[in-house]
Amino acid sequence: MTENKSQSNKNNLVWHQAQVTPADRTRLFRQNPVTVWFTGLSGAGKSTLAFALEKRLLELVRASYVLDGDNVRHGLNSNLGFSHEDRTENIRRIAEVARLMNDAGLIVITAFISPYREDREVARRIIGAEKFLEVHVSTPLAVCEERDPKGSYKRARAGEIRDFTGISSPYESPSDPVLSLDTSASGIVPCVEAVLAILEPRIRV
Ligand code: ADX
Repeated sequence: MTENKSQSNKNNLVWHQAQVTPADRTRLFRQNPVTVWFTGLSGAGKSTLAFALEKRLLELVRASYVLDGDNVRHGLNSNLGFSHEDRTENIRRIAEVARLMNDAGLIVITAFISPYREDREVARRIIGAEKFLEVHVSTPLAVCEERDPKGSYKRARAGEIRDFTGISSPYESPSDPVLSLDTSASGIVPCVEAVLAILEPRIRV
């Protein structure tokens, strides 16, 4: 689509105001929605933490949903690869989905490498700084490579996967995350409880 066409399309769009307000949804779900944004290397433990947190929140009668890198790349983002440009678009779309889900009243938990600081800042802007909780899953590269649950590091070292984060593509650590969790130093349960401790006062109505 050319820029002109996309511009004229935008000009023909009108924002339709919902009759159900954020306050109505907060009453319905009895929670203030936020997005917990896990970032870190492949194999760091983001997905494990995200799904464990989702389960724990269910036990606490909280409505949440996980957006996970591998899962989302099967559907919504199946047309994207791992170039810098595609990763930027991957994160932008996820942030827009997280914003919609927060708007619907759900707590969102994301598990994406999201290696570029600038892309995470875009996500923070889209979702809203007051709703965005950036958690760095800081498990060291050596541990992730040792775990290598999908055999990807081995293949990346052998040159069979291009632009692999940590090997042939950069990872930029967050400068000011709300939390850093190294899953090689602490178990999943204490890590989840640490996230919950930060989350609870934010979501409580
Ligand atoms: S991101 O960089 O755009 O945020 P995302 O979290 O969606 O990445 O996807 C990461 C998953 O894709 C990894 O868990 C891994 O299984 C797989 N993958 C395939 N190719 C690559 C690659 N070149 N770099 C990183 N992960 C890759």
